[in-house]
Amino acid sequence: MCGIIGAASSRNVGKLLIQGLHKMEYRGYDSAGIALHQKDHVTRLRALGKVQALEDLMIEHKPKSKLGIAHTRWATHGKPSEANAHPHASNEQIYIVHNGIIENYKELTKKLKDSGYQFASQTDSELIAHLIHHHYKNNDLLCAMQSATKELEGAYAIAAVDLNHKDQLVIARYKSPLLIGVGIEENFAASDPLALAQLTSNFVFLEDGDTAVVKKDSYEIFDAKSKSVNRDVTHLDIETSSVTKGEFSHFMEKEIFEQPQSASNTLESRLGSNDVLDNIFGLGSSEIFAKTKRIQFVACGTSLHAGKVGRFWFEEIAGIPCYVDFASEYRYRNPLVEDGTLFVTISQSGETADTLAALRYARDKDYLSTLSICNVPTSSLARESDHVLFTNAGPEIGVASTKAFTTQLVSLLLLAMSIAKSQDKNPIMREAITKELKDLPAAIDESLDTKTAIQKITPAIAEKNNALFLGRGIFFPIVQEGALKLKEISYIHAEAYPAGELKHGPLALVDDSIPIVALSPENDLTEKLISNLEEVKARGGTLYVFGEGQDQFTIDSGSYIGMPKCNKFIAPIIYTIPLQILAYYVACHRGTDLDQPRNLAKSVTVE
Ligand code: F6R
Repeated sequence: MCGIIGAASSRNVGKLLIQGLHKMEYRGYDSAGIALHQKDHVTRLRALGKVQALEDLMIEHKPKSKLGIAHTRWATHGKPSEANAHPHASNEQIYIVHNGIIENYKELTKKLKDSGYQFASQTDSELIAHLIHHHYKNNDLLCAMQSATKELEGAYAIAAVDLNHKDQLVIARYKSPLLIGVGIEENFAASDPLALAQLTSNFVFLEDGDTAVVKKDSYEIFDAKSKSVNRDVTHLDIETSSVTKGEFSHFMEKEIFEQPQSASNTLESRLGSNDVLDNIFGLGSSEIFAKTKRIQFVACGTSLHAGKVGRFWFEEIAGIPCYVDFASEYRYRNPLVEDGTLFVTISQSGETADTLAALRYARDKDYLSTLSICNVPTSSLARESDHVLFTNAGPEIGVASTKAFTTQLVSLLLLAMSIAKSQDKNPIMREAITKELKDLPAAIDESLDTKTAIQKITPAIAEKNNALFLGRGIFFPIVQEGALKLKEISYIHAEAYPAGELKHGPLALVDDSIPIVALSPENDLTEKLISNLEEVKARGGTLYVFGEGQDQFTIDSGSYIGMPKCNKFIAPIIYTIPLQILAYYVACHRGTDLDQPRNLAKSVTVE
């Protein structure tokens, strides 16, 4: 993971680089560093901890420079420390920042050590600086980068500066995102356009194997054969307001409360009066959907939970079976692909290494087609899939996914309806879902009102170290998502179970020290769920139940939180909201760094 950035400008770049790093902290935040060219030397500053620690160093040292590179890190090789922070240097001559993983680092490190290079870190990235130095001849940094990258196996986005050139960056990309931001009298390189949102709206996305020289008034790109190539300039208006917290205390809180709007954005121009519109997944998608007999979902984390919810909808609405797999497991299996299987990836970032690798693996198999549900239009996943539906959630900055998840669910309903429509299945059901979806933003808005009741139960849950989440049917993946939210931001261990499974083991955990959070919507399984909850009550468990019919159930210890009445298909989306709010307030109560929880990063671009 990690975020890299570089700038060549006619003004001082220190502040711009730090600003860009702040925008990329979602990619990692255990240490940060910067290298600034200063004619006769390069100033390197590195700090353990968040970008703010580096910014404080910059304020202290005030280095001025018109050319520089910087990095925010999420440790893969070597623990977070100043020595392991980037930029890495070779002989005070070559300085590099790297995002990715070098798989053949052991062989290359040995070779470089044998030729006399001394290593100052435990990272797999430092060798890149030495390797470039090793190939550096005739003052030609580009050529040295091209020769060095030919020896690298794995994934990389690299930006380098060398002492002999005060006016150029050299960059390289393979399987890790990298782009050039085109400005006026200045050009940039970065892992994500978000990092450059305040500097330019024009971006050039590098392809695998590309290298480039970036100067303040020009840039030139070379393909994997070192041939000069033109790559399209993409104009992107990235709303800078969406990358600030506004009136909210945290990005996560802002993103939870943005969900009526994000759901409405996902639906915009995709629903007709009675049905989903044709070809919302791109031209030709209806023909593919007509032939779809099965779905293989592949995703990670929260996005995987969306796929698990989707499975219920595809079976019911489109009448086709679905398989759901962890991307990190799928890519190392040899899946048997049945005739007519559509391969679907789900990802907020579109850069998750395991999901992307699974897509690339699937392309060589006999799938009918590949489709992605993704939030980032410029992402690798979106570019490499045959069909895409963008979730239109807007930038999600909080590490814990909220609005990305609910917009993925909306997109999956649209996909299930589109397939059903292409196969002439369930027109009345499709009409009913269309109506439900039109009511969705208002229904989410209403469910946000649970906030006050949730704040009251927060202290009791925040003091515990474990929690159990229960749901049944389509609400089981929703409680899995609720448990994931709680553990990742509050560090409380939380486990989710289908309520009917309790008696097969987990009931042994029940006593008054473990809060039990349950979803009890009105549906065919309500009575069965209530019987399961009675079993918990009988064993002294403390229950926090979210449901629509308190009259059916009394709670001795805990609370019942009333939910708005909601229709069947959108109910899983509505019931997600209080679980996000619960995790948020519990984490606030425990005082964790909830937008950037420990050990995590927003976009997991390493295996
Ligand atoms: C949890 C969370 C992660 C991501 C996972 C996949 O809140 O955000 O579990 O869902 O890392 O990321 P994407 O969706 O970007 O592929």
